[in-house]
Amino acid sequence: MPASCTIPHLIAEAQTTEETFLRHLFVRDQMAEWSKHPLIMARAEGVCYWDVNGKRYLDALSGIYVASVGHNNKRVIDAIKRQLDVLCFSPPMHGTNPVAVQLANLLAEVTPGDLSAVKFQCGGSEVTEAAIKLARQYHRLTGSPGKYKVISRYLSWHGSTLGSLSASGLKGRKTVNEPMAPGFLHVFPPTCYRCPFGKSYPDCGVTCATIVGDVIAMEDPDTVAAIMVEPIGHTGGVIDPPEEYLPILREVCDRNNVLLIFDEIITGAGRTGRMFAAETFGVVPDVLCTAKGLSGGYAPLSAMICRQPIADAFWGPVSENPGFVEGHTFEGNPISCAAGIAVLREILERDLCANVRVQGERLHRRFSEMAERHGVIGDIRGKGLFQAIEFVRDTTTKEPFPAAVGFGARVGRRALEHGLLCRFDPNWIAFGPPLVSTAEQIDEMAAILDRSLGEVLAEL
Ligand SMILES: Cc1ncc(COP(=O)(O)O)c(C=O)c1O
Repeated sequence: MPASCTIPHLIAEAQTTEETFLRHLFVRDQMAEWSKHPLIMARAEGVCYWDVNGKRYLDALSGIYVASVGHNNKRVIDAIKRQLDVLCFSPPMHGTNPVAVQLANLLAEVTPGDLSAVKFQCGGSEVTEAAIKLARQYHRLTGSPGKYKVISRYLSWHGSTLGSLSASGLKGRKTVNEPMAPGFLHVFPPTCYRCPFGKSYPDCGVTCATIVGDVIAMEDPDTVAAIMVEPIGHTGGVIDPPEEYLPILREVCDRNNVLLIFDEIITGAGRTGRMFAAETFGVVPDVLCTAKGLSGGYAPLSAMICRQPIADAFWGPVSENPGFVEGHTFEGNPISCAAGIAVLREILERDLCANVRVQGERLHRRFSEMAERHGVIGDIRGKGLFQAIEFVRDTTTKEPFPAAVGFGARVGRRALEHGLLCRFDPNWIAFGPPLVSTAEQIDEMAAILDRSLGEVLAEL
């Protein structure tokens, strides 16, 4: 029998933690380090995971801000099962399917203002990239072909494809892949706790926002296509802007015929206590990108949603208008869209945004108590169930812990040992638990973090 016909060796689940077998898979972490204590999740229910060794973890991160309606949600699973029996894939070069049309219409209803035309993809990077392309093509179609530059922010994360990576502002993830695509500029984000301009809010005049207008003027407004921001930045440690920040960006964009793109990959689908952070901040962007919690992790799904006047520019006669030149094989996948509809119905019918607001306040109280008890939390930031604490050695001077201590990461790893999944960095820890989390679950998550923080402090 030729080698190509032999049946490959299948390993048992119990063997999936063995290094020999892990060598066949890339994960997101540093492989050599990760494989010493590989975390491999076997099942999940509600706000908990269990790994292949049977250990339970409270999921204070929704996987990675994804499991919005909790794990093993019956309504979503049933919707997917029903869809599996009807249609799993429709031809994307020729058309679409009823579920994609239904979800697009539902999104048009639940997004603020006249955001109403939707492009579906599978992940966050694909839709932030699509938004950049939409902005460039829109300006071409409307008589400003020279507008191509994209302004975004340092410390931001918009994705790992080359366009979305070029818009991102994290040197640690960019340098290794340089050179980036041309046409991307970066400005400082609204990190009020450590103002890049050495000012203090509110006397600062929100320079971090007004300076974006100056950057456009210096670059030449006829060359700038879009500004892309996360309403609340994640990777810089949950950067929650002052209330004037996004309205100023809106005004700057309007004045310069520049599209305002919100990356709501994390903040969408209820996470900040409204369906979208655009509502939380009272600003309607020209393009809104969302993913993660939109399908709750039940199938890959993301959406780029633009305002009606922008969509209209793509509806001209074929002789002068090619439509939106952007597409991927799995866009509008019926299984993913069925999951998306079920997740949005869960959020709307169970009023999970209200729960997010209540539990978000509770989480903030728990973080404030920890700050009082331990004296090493300098700042608490975020909205709803998307919050972070920043660690400092001295809360008066804001002096951080020495980099070699890796304080936040040590606390986060200790929490993991105690069965808590959260996002950790050397200087901060973030929580983003499922929107369905109860008061008791929030308290239990906070208690594990509190204990872990105390233990690490005692070791210093
Ligand atoms: C704010 C933000 N934008 C974009 C992305 C990219 O999404 P994906 O990893 O699904 O491509 C992420 C991923 O973490 C994100 O947090």
